Formats: sequence, structure tokens, C-alpha cells
Amino acid sequence: MTNKPKVLTHVPIEDDLMESICEVAEVDQLIITAPRSELLVALKDVDGILLTPRVRADTEFFDAAPKLKVISTTSVGYDPFDIPEATKHGVVVCNTPGVLTAAVANLTIASIFSLALRLFEYEPYVRSGGWSKREKAPPLGTDIQGKILGVIGFGRIGQEVTQRMQALGMRTLWHDVFDVPHSSAPESEYRSLNELLADADFVSLHTNLDASSRHMIGEAELNLMKPTAYLINTARGPLVDQVALTKALQSNQIAGAALDVLEKEPPVEDDPIFTLPNIICFPHIGTATKETRRAMRELAVKNLIAVITGKKPLASVNPEVLG
Ligand code: DGY
Repeated sequence: MTNKPKVLTHVPIEDDLMESICEVAEVDQLIITAPRSELLVALKDVDGILLTPRVRADTEFFDAAPKLKVISTTSVGYDPFDIPEATKHGVVVCNTPGVLTAAVANLTIASIFSLALRLFEYEPYVRSGGWSKREKAPPLGTDIQGKILGVIGFGRIGQEVTQRMQALGMRTLWHDVFDVPHSSAPESEYRSLNELLADADFVSLHTNLDASSRHMIGEAELNLMKPTAYLINTARGPLVDQVALTKALQSNQIAGAALDVLEKEPPVEDDPIFTLPNIICFPHIGTATKETRRAMRELAVKNLIAVITGKKPLASVNPEVLG
């Protein structure tokens, strides 16, 4: 019999991270692919859980975990977790902001370049023998210097992308639910959402997903964009109405899109969006570098250990639970 708190790990972690949890807790492991019914049973007497945003934490989840004090996710996003319900149950939800900012900015910028320079068309053109056979080459790309980048969601990642693209010669606009940014934010021009959509050559999404931001980019918003403009989404799929986006791309209402996230993940194999020549699509890899994923797991473990040992976590979304 031990008095140590009980922790459930529902995501694979390195041995050294596991050892650091074992020093302060009794640990049970549940493989990430375990069915939800097994998870609900395993939650019965745990004080803390380490998980990913693949898990939905709703009323059913919290009711199954009467002793739970902390959910620590190895992600910055926490949209699958019902935060008011967590707070009601006295559960603090910890996430991993900061350590992934550079990685997501990298993918955003790579996407902007790939679209602008049409790298996504030139590369398969060469690989499939088009150059060798002197076939008609893809159309010319476009410069990014002097073009306008519209950033929707002016938090850490939006600011990082803004700063870097300014250094590369872009003019930048921003929009967020607040209209006065933090004093450390880079200088950039504020626009209402509609103004930003109408003015930008590249629109990049960096906002959280919640009820108010779901489908913030739909048919009406896509209609405001220039026919030469591109949409980049490395945030969350449901920010964009994908049916409306598919139509806008089919009709060349906008020039193209880069999507690291989709409304349904993983997508269905025959999703019509994959038939479009003017998109590039990635399987939610914004944070998928060895260093960044390790840093995210490390921070998530530190957050978990802090809460179960009565300390303040480095990052949480409902810190009021801790008083
Ligand atoms: C995050 O951290 O939210 C990334 O999207 C990975 O889920």
C-alpha cells in the first residue's frame, strides 16, 4: 500500500520522463489506441492523467474520474476538453504553449513559400519526368516581398510568423478577438476580420478553436478574399468550413490553400479536397519535429508532476482551479 498519488499515462513517453513521474506517483499505463471504454474504467481512481488531444474530456470523462486533479496534455491545443466542466470538477488542465511556437511558424512559412513559388507543382513536375520530356511547366510563382500577410490570431505563433515574414519583406496585418495586442507584440496593422480578408495576399490562421471560432472562415469570408490570395491553416481544421473552402478552390474564388489540419482527422480517403490541384495538405505535422515533440512531452510531464505534488504548473488553461 502506498500513499503516492496515482497517475495514468495515455501517451508513450521516454524512459527518463516515466522515471520522473514514478518518483512521485504510482503509474499505470494505457496504450494510446485503447478503446474509450477501457480509459473510462482506468480513470476510476487516478489523480492525474497524461494524454493527447485525441481524447475527449467531457462530462462522461469527468464523472468517471472522481479523484482527478489534473489533465496534462502533450499539446498546446485543448479544444477536445470541456474546460468549464473540468473547472466544475476541480480539475486543472495543463498544456504546452511556447515550446512549439517555432515549429508551427516554420511549417507556416514553408507553406507560404511552397504556395508562392509553386514548389508543390514544380517538384512533382520534375519527379514525374515533365522536365526531362520538356512538358509544359507549371505557371510562374509569385514574390512574397511586398505582399500582404494577414494573420488571424495574434498570439505567440501568429506574432512569430509576423515577425519572421516582416524580416522577409512582407507587409503584415493582424486580427484577433482583442484589438490591443500585448506590448511585446511586433508592430503590425490591425484590421477587422473582413478588412483583413479583403486586403491580404496570404491569410494565415493561428487562433484557438472554440464555439465562437468554429467555421470563422466560411463561404462569406472566402468570397471576400482576392482571387489571387492563399489561405494557410496550421491551427485547427474546424476553423474553416471545409465544404465552402472546397467550393472556393474548385471555382478559383481563391488561388490556393495549405492545410496542415482538416475538419475531420484522419480524413476520409475520398475527401473531395484531395482532388484539387491548388492545395497542399499535410497530416497535422506542425509540431512534428523530434526536438519539439520531446519538449512538449517534457513540459507536459513537468506540469503533471507539479500539480500532483501541490505546486503550480508551468502552464494551465484554468489556473483558477488551483486558487
Ligand atoms: C497542438 O499542440 O495543439 C498541436 O496541434 C498538436 O496537437
